Amino acid sequence: MRRSIAASTLLALVALSFPGCGGEGGDGIELVFAAGNDPSGATAALIEEYNAAHPGVTVRFQAMPANTDTQHDAYVTYLSARESNIDLYSLDVIWTAEFAKAGWIAELPEGLLDRNAFLEAPLKSATYEGALYAVPWFTDAGVLYYRRDLLDEEGLPVPETWSDLRAACRRVAEPRGMEGFVWQGARYEGLVCDFLEFLWGLGGTLDPESLADDPGRVERDVSETLAMMRALIEDGTSPESVLTYKEEDARRVFTEGHALFMRNWPYAWSMAQGEGSKVKDAVGTARLAHAPGETPYSTIGGWNVAVSAFTEHPDEAIEFLQFITGERSLKERAIAGGYLPTRKSTFKDPDVLDANPYFADFFEVFRFTRNRPRSPEYPRASDVTQEHVHEAISGQTSPEEAASAMVDALVPILAE
Ligand code: GLC
Repeated sequence: MRRSIAASTLLALVALSFPGCGGEGGDGIELVFAAGNDPSGATAALIEEYNAAHPGVTVRFQAMPANTDTQHDAYVTYLSARESNIDLYSLDVIWTAEFAKAGWIAELPEGLLDRNAFLEAPLKSATYEGALYAVPWFTDAGVLYYRRDLLDEEGLPVPETWSDLRAACRRVAEPRGMEGFVWQGARYEGLVCDFLEFLWGLGGTLDPESLADDPGRVERDVSETLAMMRALIEDGTSPESVLTYKEEDARRVFTEGHALFMRNWPYAWSMAQGEGSKVKDAVGTARLAHAPGETPYSTIGGWNVAVSAFTEHPDEAIEFLQFITGERSLKERAIAGGYLPTRKSTFKDPDVLDANPYFADFFEVFRFTRNRPRSPEYPRASDVTQEHVHEAISGQTSPEEAASAMVDALVPILAE
């Protein structure tokens, strides 16, 4: 049901925007670029500029709902029908293998880009079996946001372990009637990102090799992680409502000044510093909390741009692809929207760092990142993970039962 609604919404959006669209505009070629909405307006401005400089081509931006699962389901239905009305897609880093294997996105010509110019993890996420299927657009990693003003007031350091974080919530958040630690606990892709960070933070892993070699060990680590996450909610460190939170829910609570800590992606920084934020200049960022003696790792996220295998205008689509993933575009989007660039030179550009001084702190976070499993079967693996994690953290099943069911289901999926 969810799938068909999402898909029909996309089809309706495309049909509404381009009545009778078949790729040929009245006076030239029309290209449609579908991507998550960019509230900063930077993408729209870049496209306008591109159109002005390319009289024979008109690029139209098809803004999609931000939720990654909604976009995924819509694109899958759309592309499995071999629809050609969308020429370029912005794809979550976790979909490359699936879309490439299905033959929905075009393999890009070798030599299209200088691979050395890009950060390694995002570039890896754009390749499948060694070939390039997309160009990295912006990157993401989980960050711990904290209220610097309040920790300073109490003379507390930034917490490193989960027990430090709990203690800070008791001492700072509780007496002020605030929430402690907010994160993404709804049943969707974001929960997988948060869950993996908790799992890695206690030394566990969910990679296919460990699942194949020692499923018992993985099960124990998963169970311990789920128990820890449930305990955060039961002891009031995190509100029960995190079970329904996606990125923007947590972000709103935090920028309204109602929470002491938040796990979120880098985009939340510009919003914390922006108009309407009640925590402007009162926020710090750090690496995520973890178990004593362990190293925290952040989930790598981000989005790449791919050309549809069904486009009627591959040459024009590739030309636009180069522009929208080029240095200038990355720079504009970093300055106006806080999107983390995937090109090394843009990351270090003085104008970019001037506009986003906190990017420098993210270098540290980015040194310790990990990918979700890279597999054409990733969506199935994610679905199973979401289901069992959510059941356990909402108290519907025990951590042990959930861990056992999850590992049993994941082993055959990720072995494929
Ligand atoms: C962000 C990340 C993406 C991730 C999603 C989960 O959009 O960039 O990789 O899958 O959040 O909600």
